[in-house]
Amino acid sequence: MNIFFIGYMGSGKSTIGQKFSELLKYEYVDLDTYIQDREGLLIPEIFKTKGEIYFRKAENKYLKEVLHLEKTILSLGGGTPCYGNNMELITTSPKSKSVYLKSSIPNLVVRLYNERASRPLIAHLNDKDELTEFIGKHLFERSQYYSQSDITISTDNKSINDILEELVTKLF
Ligand code: S3P
Repeated sequence: MNIFFIGYMGSGKSTIGQKFSELLKYEYVDLDTYIQDREGLLIPEIFKTKGEIYFRKAENKYLKEVLHLEKTILSLGGGTPCYGNNMELITTSPKSKSVYLKSSIPNLVVRLYNERASRPLIAHLNDKDELTEFIGKHLFERSQYYSQSDITISTDNKSINDILEELVTKLF
C-alpha cells in the first residue's frame, strides 16, 4: 500500500509523513525533494528561473514516476492535488490511500509566517494580515481538491503522536 499526504503548505505533511513511514517501516518520499533532486535546483530557484508553469508540469511528471513505487509514504506539495489530472491520478492509484492533513488558517499563519521567504507563493506577503487573507482565499479554492482524499485528519491542537494514532485507527 502507498499513502499520500495532502494539505496546504505548513500543514505538517513532511513531518507526519516521515514519522509515519518510520512507524510502518515504509519508504518515505517527499515530492518537493524528489523534484529538487531530479531538476538539480531548489523549488524557489525553479519558480524564479523557469516559472510556475514549468514547475507544475514537472510536478505532474514526477508524480507519475513516484506513483509506481510500492510500500511508500508520499508527502506531496501543497499545490500538487490542485493541478491537471493530479488528484485523479492520486485517487485512482491502486492499493493506495490519501490523507488530507487539515489545519486552521490561524495555525497555518503561525507556522508559515517566519518561513515565507523560502516559499515562492507567499514570499511577497508583507505581514500577518496579508498572509491570513491570502491563505483564506487560497485554501477556499484548494479545499475542493484536498477534500477528495480518502480520509481527513484535523491537526489543530494535536501532538504528532495523537495524529499518528489517529492515522493508524482510520487507515487500518
Ligand atoms: C506549493 C507548495 C510547496 C511547493 C511549492 C508550491 C503550493 O510544497 O510544492 O512551493 O502550491 O502550495 P509544500 O506544501 O511542501 O510547502
